Amino acid sequence: PTNLWLDCDTGLDLQDPDSFAILMASMHPSLKLLGISTVHGNAPLENTTYNTLAVLEAIGRRDIPVYSGASKPFCRAPAHAAAIHGSSGLDGTTLLPNPIMPAQINTSAIEAMYSALRSSPPQSAWLVATGALTNVAILFLLHPDLVSHIAGLSIMGGVVGGGFNEAKLGTKNYGSNSFGNWTPYAEFNIFCDPEAAHSLFSNPALAAKTTLIPLDITHLVFATESVRAKLLHGTTAPPSIPASSISSITRPSVRPLFHEILIFFATTYAEVFGMTTGPPLHDPLAVAAVFAPALFRDGRETGERERWSVDVVRDDAIGDVTGSGGKKGVGQVGRTVARKVEGDRDGVRIPRGVN
Ligand code: BDR
Ligand code: CA
Repeated sequence: PTNLWLDCDTGLDLQDPDSFAILMASMHPSLKLLGISTVHGNAPLENTTYNTLAVLEAIGRRDIPVYSGASKPFCRAPAHAAAIHGSSGLDGTTLLPNPIMPAQINTSAIEAMYSALRSSPPQSAWLVATGALTNVAILFLLHPDLVSHIAGLSIMGGVVGGGFNEAKLGTKNYGSNSFGNWTPYAEFNIFCDPEAAHSLFSNPALAAKTTLIPLDITHLVFATESVRAKLLHGTTAPPSIPASSISSITRPSVRPLFHEILIFFATTYAEVFGMTTGPPLHDPLAVAAVFAPALFRDGRETGERERWSVDVVRDDAIGDVTGSGGKKGVGQVGRTVARKVEGDRDGVRIPRGVN
């Protein structure tokens, strides 16, 4: 199996897809999840950590160590997604157990990530980020040697827009020509810490190892009603996991738990974004990019080798662009601007479609 570390921001009410990224990363037979670090984002750090531990408890993976990372972005106030993900308690589900295992405190999240990835064989381990990029940016600033050591970095974040592919990106909130999901221009994870995102994308050696799964891709994959029914009624047994970590109390309710999370998420997406097919499951796609890269297509013209340079708007003074469909006065902070680069090795991999 491929060694992998997950950095995520599991939402307060859990009607958000980080829980599915955790499920996939910890249960897929071709992956070995070394640990999870949490970051501010969907909810304050304390909650993203608690929710991560609760999800692991529910799926019987107490053995996976969880570390609390950054509670704030590099140089901005944290932006929590209460408006989308709810603001109180566990509204999204009643089936989530209280975690038994606490978060690890013997070492910092950054050092834990570093040592897990560094002790994997060269070019073998992946880092997957499904929240704000603060922890990941600090990791590579403190440990630049890790760039050449890892196999890859997979990020769910950003949005390219502008006819990048056939995904429908206009939202009920922002008008049919907009493309962001947090502002008319910006995707939430990048918006949460644009400076951290910039520090990753502007590092050429790291960019060359990065796969970016933007909204343009996640909005092609929906948890439709039939997918949800399969999740609820499926009979496949989970892959074997360490016996010591199985909780017989929580195990039977895993399917209803994840189904309930999806129903809540589907409702929010229909209400806020007017998407009624089903919610896009953003985060697990960044995990899938690790073990099933062929699921994604890299471009019509150049097949599998199209690469991009990604710039992140960080200047608060950059305002709306006429014709972009945005609300006046929102600004473009967090917008990801992707430009195709010559050659097939430098730059970020951004798939254009899914197979
Ligand atoms: C991303 O923002 C978060 O709310 C989700 O968990 C996902 O990572 C989608 O923009
Ligand atoms: Ca997330």
